[in-house]
Amino acid sequence: MTTKIEHILLYTGLRLVEDGCLLIRDGAILYAGERSGCPEGAQGVIDGKGGICMPGLCNAHAHAAMTLLRGVGSDLQLQEWLQQIWPAEDRLNGEHVYNGTMLAAMEMISRGITSFADQYFFMDDTARAVVDSGMRANLSRGIVSTGGNDEQKLQEGVRLFEDWNGAADGRIKVYLAPHAEYTTTPDLIHRATRAAARLNTGIHIHISETPREVEECRQRYGISPVRYFEREGMFEVPVIGAHCVAVDDEDIAILARRQVKVVHNPASNMKLASGVAPVTKMMAAGIDVALGTDGVASNNTTDLFADMKLAAILQKGFLMDPTAMPVEKVLHMATRAGALAMGFENVGVLEAGMRADLLILDKDAPNLTPSTDVLANLVYAAQGLNVRLTMVDGKVLYKDGEYLTLDKEKVLFEAQKSAHALGL
Ligand code: NI
Repeated sequence: MTTKIEHILLYTGLRLVEDGCLLIRDGAILYAGERSGCPEGAQGVIDGKGGICMPGLCNAHAHAAMTLLRGVGSDLQLQEWLQQIWPAEDRLNGEHVYNGTMLAAMEMISRGITSFADQYFFMDDTARAVVDSGMRANLSRGIVSTGGNDEQKLQEGVRLFEDWNGAADGRIKVYLAPHAEYTTTPDLIHRATRAAARLNTGIHIHISETPREVEECRQRYGISPVRYFEREGMFEVPVIGAHCVAVDDEDIAILARRQVKVVHNPASNMKLASGVAPVTKMMAAGIDVALGTDGVASNNTTDLFADMKLAAILQKGFLMDPTAMPVEKVLHMATRAGALAMGFENVGVLEAGMRADLLILDKDAPNLTPSTDVLANLVYAAQGLNVRLTMVDGKVLYKDGEYLTLDKEKVLFEAQKSAHALGL
């Protein structure tokens, strides 16, 4: 099946094409460029008139099923917030996780997010939701050492890899996920790293989210979490490092040297008052920083357009430098850098040879008019609700308010039912 998307203002991630066209066959982009140069022979045509087409957004750190916890524990100290979250999470079962992930998928698809990295529990049910929704995802079973059965959880993570890595036509990748320094032992870090190396996969972990976490790590081991993870050998495998808020210059040098895929979660960091990650500094050191929403309990949406704007203005305001974080860099964070962080090498740019993960926004929306500077509009003016079409792997998942893979009423009903079952 060959599909043509024409009459679009195309931003490929590398260049802008005024009267653009994409030709897609079996999920792969055959042609991206001027409409006048587009080859003939498409069976299906999508008229993108009045639309801006860009790479689909890549949400590189999330806990999708936490959509069920939307609105829980607002305006509390981190410890009190966790004490509201944990009892609800203790009641979770696989059905709840499936329902919460379907709700997350619905929200993400409608806002142009085409792929996400998820660290949580009952991940077989998350994987089913990825298959059913048609999204792309990097999945991992979160492991904490407390309770003493971390080996069993690690083996569940390995089994998840064996069952799902490469599934759904390659749309699913599986990493291993020791949760963070403060929730695991050095022994678990060693075992998880060895297992990841053996499976030729990576690790998804929280790193230096708060100053308190760093201080406690220093008390335990005399060094920062970044130095600790390097010492324990974890950076020998590919790592998605969520947050990296409280990092110093030496930490940044290590993260850059080890090519750790840092994921910035500005809304979550601001809501939990964790601090501002030194993203400008990390980028200057050569780190390819990606963008994430984190869980909905600390965001409270999965609208990466909101996180893009926040990522840009936070650096400017914090550094008192309006030239910090220009729009091209923010767009790169939310697309190509996220795809690479998740291990999807052929996603995140709309050029020939790449997979067709994309979104089309309504260019004629009031908040995107006039279209004087398209890229500035995408970062500072656009909202997820401006998205009118979302495509993953060449398949349309959402168009003009309609979901093509999900039953909206059913997903909303089941999610609400699961939230009640959690005592919310
Ligand atoms: Ni997180």
